[in-house]
Amino acid sequence: MTKNIHFLILFILLNILEFNVNLTKSNPHPQFPCQPPHHKYTFCNKKLSISTRVHSLISLLTIDEKILHLSDNTTSIPRLGLPAYEWWSESLHGIGTNGPGINFNGPIKSATSFPQVILTAAAFNRTLWHSIASTIAVEARAMYNTGQSGLTFWAPNINVFRDPRWGRGQETPGEDPMVVSAYAIEYVTGFQELNSKADKESSNGHGFGNTRRVLKEDDDAGDKLMLSACCKHFTAYDLEKWGDATRYNFNAVEGLSKTTSLPPPEVVVTKQDMEDTFQAPFRSCIQQAKASCLMCSYNSVNGVPACADKVLLDKVRTDWGFDGYITSDCDAVATIYENQNYTKTPEDAVALALKAGTNINCGTYMLRHVKSAFQQGSVLEEDLDRALQYLFSVQFRLGLFDGNPAKGQFAKFGPQDVCTSNNLELALDAARQGIVLLKNDQKFLPLDKRSISTLAIVGPMANVSSPGGTYTGVPCKLKSIHEGFHRHINRTLYAAGCLDIGCNSTAGFPDAISIAKEADYVIVVAGLDLSQETEDLDRYSLLLPGNQTNLVTALAAVSKKPIILVLTGGGPIDVSFAEKDPRIASILWVAYPGETGGKALSEIIFGYQNPGGKLPMTWYLESYTKVPMTNMNMRADPANDYPGRTYRFYTGDPLYGFGHGLSYTSFSSQLLSAPNRLSLSLGKSNWKRNILAQEHSRLGYIHVDEVPSCSLSKFFIHISVTNDGDMDGNHVLLLFSRVPQNIQGAPLKQLVGFDRVHVPARKSVETSLSINPCEFLSFSNDQGNRILALGEHTLILDDIEHIVSIEL
Ligand SMILES: *[C@@H]1O[C@H](CO)[C@@H](O)[C@H](O)[C@H]1NC(C)=O
Ligand SMILES: *[C@@H]1O[C@H](CO)[C@@H](O)[C@H](O)[C@H]1NC(C)=O
Ligand SMILES: *[C@@H]1O[C@H](CO)[C@@H](O)[C@H](O)[C@H]1NC(C)=O
Ligand SMILES: *[C@@H]1O[C@H](CO)[C@@H](O)[C@H](O)[C@H]1NC(C)=O
Ligand SMILES: *[C@@H]1O[C@H](CO)[C@@H](O)[C@H](O)[C@H]1NC(C)=O
Ligand SMILES: *[C@@H]1O[C@H](CO)[C@@H](O)[C@H](O)[C@H]1NC(C)=O
Ligand SMILES: *[C@@H]1O[C@H](CO)[C@@H](O)[C@H](O)[C@H]1NC(C)=O
Repeated sequence: MTKNIHFLILFILLNILEFNVNLTKSNPHPQFPCQPPHHKYTFCNKKLSISTRVHSLISLLTIDEKILHLSDNTTSIPRLGLPAYEWWSESLHGIGTNGPGINFNGPIKSATSFPQVILTAAAFNRTLWHSIASTIAVEARAMYNTGQSGLTFWAPNINVFRDPRWGRGQETPGEDPMVVSAYAIEYVTGFQELNSKADKESSNGHGFGNTRRVLKEDDDAGDKLMLSACCKHFTAYDLEKWGDATRYNFNAVEGLSKTTSLPPPEVVVTKQDMEDTFQAPFRSCIQQAKASCLMCSYNSVNGVPACADKVLLDKVRTDWGFDGYITSDCDAVATIYENQNYTKTPEDAVALALKAGTNINCGTYMLRHVKSAFQQGSVLEEDLDRALQYLFSVQFRLGLFDGNPAKGQFAKFGPQDVCTSNNLELALDAARQGIVLLKNDQKFLPLDKRSISTLAIVGPMANVSSPGGTYTGVPCKLKSIHEGFHRHINRTLYAAGCLDIGCNSTAGFPDAISIAKEADYVIVVAGLDLSQETEDLDRYSLLLPGNQTNLVTALAAVSKKPIILVLTGGGPIDVSFAEKDPRIASILWVAYPGETGGKALSEIIFGYQNPGGKLPMTWYLESYTKVPMTNMNMRADPANDYPGRTYRFYTGDPLYGFGHGLSYTSFSSQLLSAPNRLSLSLGKSNWKRNILAQEHSRLGYIHVDEVPSCSLSKFFIHISVTNDGDMDGNHVLLLFSRVPQNIQGAPLKQLVGFDRVHVPARKSVETSLSINPCEFLSFSNDQGNRILALGEHTLILDDIEHIVSIEL
């Protein structure tokens, strides 16, 4: 009894103290829920389950108060002690400035700017992806603690990079659904998990390349979130503005855009492409990574705006077990009415979106129209409650209702954790690992810097500060690519050559040419920036912009030695002129390497680092631009001259294929062990199995959901990689399979596993990839069901082919 009274007094004292601390010390979060006198509400009771607390909170809200919560920018409800909250913060490759949840005006003035995602993807290193995400998470929590960000971030972008012209392809991990899925898993788990920092130390970068990290399910921890990540943009979104089609009005359909004079065709994105291309990364992001947010996209899919598509959104919850919240892309509820003309009134648009499962609209559209929809009866209170239940659950899981954030589990993170030397080193490592060597005639690179007294670094991208691509924040350091060379070479010369990236004038050529004549070696930094490709801007050509090609050629003609071409940009560029020109000895792709890009590039050019990045997307020739960007089909259609998309289906010859990337050393691989035969069990009783087996032998395939325990048939491929050269290097292993081609719709080949290994000069290392046949050797039939072909599957690793026969 007395003990309890003591506790009570202590408790009151602590509360008073806490209250005073809040008043005296400048707390960036003076307003947090459940402070006295509002701490007695049931929803404040940490002993109760989150769902009980959420229901209790919802039961206290009026209709108007509920509606105030349907926007990214919620209004405070002083009556209940609820502060305002801004849902929209961004963290694609570091804390971004897009999104009103973030500001750099507080104690934290900048944050680590990692390379744009497409370059980090080129490293094919899961450990790297995970480390970057958990590092961004720490910086994000630090910014939250200083009142400079929210806890809900709208990254990663996991749309498949379907068309080379897409302005946001740079934000994605490339064109392969398996790689995009793997990236989504590392990003989301690294970002959201409480114990991710600890996990990172023990995670296995080598070894079993396909091992999925198992989420810890102990006590309540499975529910708690350090931060919330968002899988976006759901789904089949990858067009900004192309002809009359914009992301706002585009109806992702098969073959034709909605804006042609023909009526929108009945057939939409095929079920087949939905299953094994567009949806695949989202399934992994939800099912395996347990993302707590999904963002529906602007476009329509199969004639229905994504944020109004109940069938599509329901499936995410029922089939994939999604328990997070669904936000619209910004004003994607408005576009249902305004751009898609899908409803007759704004009220119908908000009603449809809410009923379909969209929980908040980024923007004010719901705030403006839900009340009248409610009065008209098209929105019911239960529709609001359902949305709020998902929204509040995520906030509770983030600890937003668990008291003073300055005392919480993550209170220790602050300005000292942002832009640290470790974080910048990781950004540097990402650029080093991702940069791709596309061409290197006669081992022209690396250069011996002792042989250089004057180096020319020329081109319109050479002096751009910290090129980071879309969704960049405020980098810790502003450094151009050419500055990265200063510490190596006593005399560097610089000229832009072009006035800007568009390079519509040759007025700057003479300066650049005279520098190139004078220097021992010439590096030309050319390519793309956000004036050519970004949100709301797709390209029409794959060639270098304006006169850039002329600049490169003119410099190659006058320089003493062959030149080095460095390409920036997230989308592929047709540089076949440079590939063929012997005066251009080497080509490197750096994409948007961020603040440490120049340093990473110089280390590679002078041989302190050996490049090991591989292209995560196909580099097509300019002729590909005759393919309508609005044609969503992945599969080729020879009858209609349609060449198909990505290495899995493209029937033409690319400039550089998916997975292309050179090293200064050479590697050879050997299959140490791999099965020749694999027997699957259909798990039915004997006689049924026999009948099924006969049926399947006739068809030549089985449906993967008929194999109840396919994971038991998982097999391992043991591989040895030898570095045959004199320089240490990193090798990205890409294991493909070619499924039996007799079944319609089969990909030409598909990635089934990857790993990145470090191999010292003249040494070998061993690694293993595990392959679940139902997951990785299957593809979708035209009904959208995954099938696994029986018979001979060819595993392809570099120039090795190995046959695995799948039988019943
Ligand atoms: C968010 O809403 C508040 C009112 O609650 C308003 O003052 C503020 O300007 C809004 N912020 C944005 C970014 O719209
Ligand atoms: C779509 O709706 C707008 C009104 O929001 C209207 O001005 C426009 O004509 C409509 N377009 C079509 C193609 O129906
Ligand atoms: C660069 O300068 C350093 C001294 O600052 C000198 O030792 C070195 O030889 C110079 N290198 C070249 C290539 O001129
Ligand atoms: C390079 O860019 C910086 C920062 O934008 C600028 O101050 C500087 O003048 C540029 N250098 C040259 C030689 O153009
Ligand atoms: C060339 O680019 C400059 C700078 O971007 C612009 O002002 C000018 O209008 C452009 N000229 C043409 C012909 O496009
Ligand atoms: C190349 O430069 C010339 C001369 O400055 C200009 O007239 C021409 O329009 C430019 N070409 C392109 C494609 O920008
Ligand atoms: C993968 O990335 C991690 C983290 O940056 C790094 O330590 C490791 O060396 C990389 N592995 C290879 C083979 O490059």
